[in-house]
Amino acid sequence: MTTTVGVISSGRGENLRYILQEERSGRLPARVGIVLADQSDAGALRIAREYGVPAHFIDPAGLGREEYDKLLIAQLDAKGVELVVLTGYMRILSPLFVRYYKDRILNIHPALLPSFRGMDAFSQALDYGVRWTGTTVHIVDEDVDHGPIIYQRPVRVLKNDTHDSLKARIQRAEYKAYPRAIKMFIEGKPKVQGRTLVWQTEEKSEEK
Ligand code: GAR
Repeated sequence: MTTTVGVISSGRGENLRYILQEERSGRLPARVGIVLADQSDAGALRIAREYGVPAHFIDPAGLGREEYDKLLIAQLDAKGVELVVLTGYMRILSPLFVRYYKDRILNIHPALLPSFRGMDAFSQALDYGVRWTGTTVHIVDEDVDHGPIIYQRPVRVLKNDTHDSLKARIQRAEYKAYPRAIKMFIEGKPKVQGRTLVWQTEEKSEEK
């Protein structure tokens, strides 16, 4: 069974590109059915169209958070979306949206949560002086960068790292992490218990 995924983005869309590559290679039990963005020039819209995926800019101008999210839900529902995947989506989702897709929204954050939530996790990691940072794929709850963790991939901070060099390495890790986490999530069907996940098919959720 193939899960229909809806991707929402504000940005470049590179994670989307790698998700689509995995999908097209047949390694992901998912099909991206629609891509939505809150920025008209989001790279994600262009990448989606390259792959023949319906892609729409939904203009947030003058709309409240719930009003806007209802527009997103209408688009996602029309395509039968079962799993929502956020890639660099910078608007905070309304409780209405989070409840509508309860435990069916995934996000990727460029740090090992719960460290360095929020904006510019790369500078936060460099300023703090950590030796390791990384990326986290988690289920979205009503708090920002907070829900139960599906998968993490560590990245070493090097002595001469700049913001850009660290960012580039973390983003390379993300391109492997996100498709892998989506596959784990779809196949493992985890149930949320507080902050932890109980996997239905244990052997598939194990990391190699
Ligand atoms: C990714 O690095 C992702 O971790 C980050 O935005 C970037 C999107 O890149 N998300 C967050 O910081 C969310 N808190 P992309 O548009 O090229 O996929």
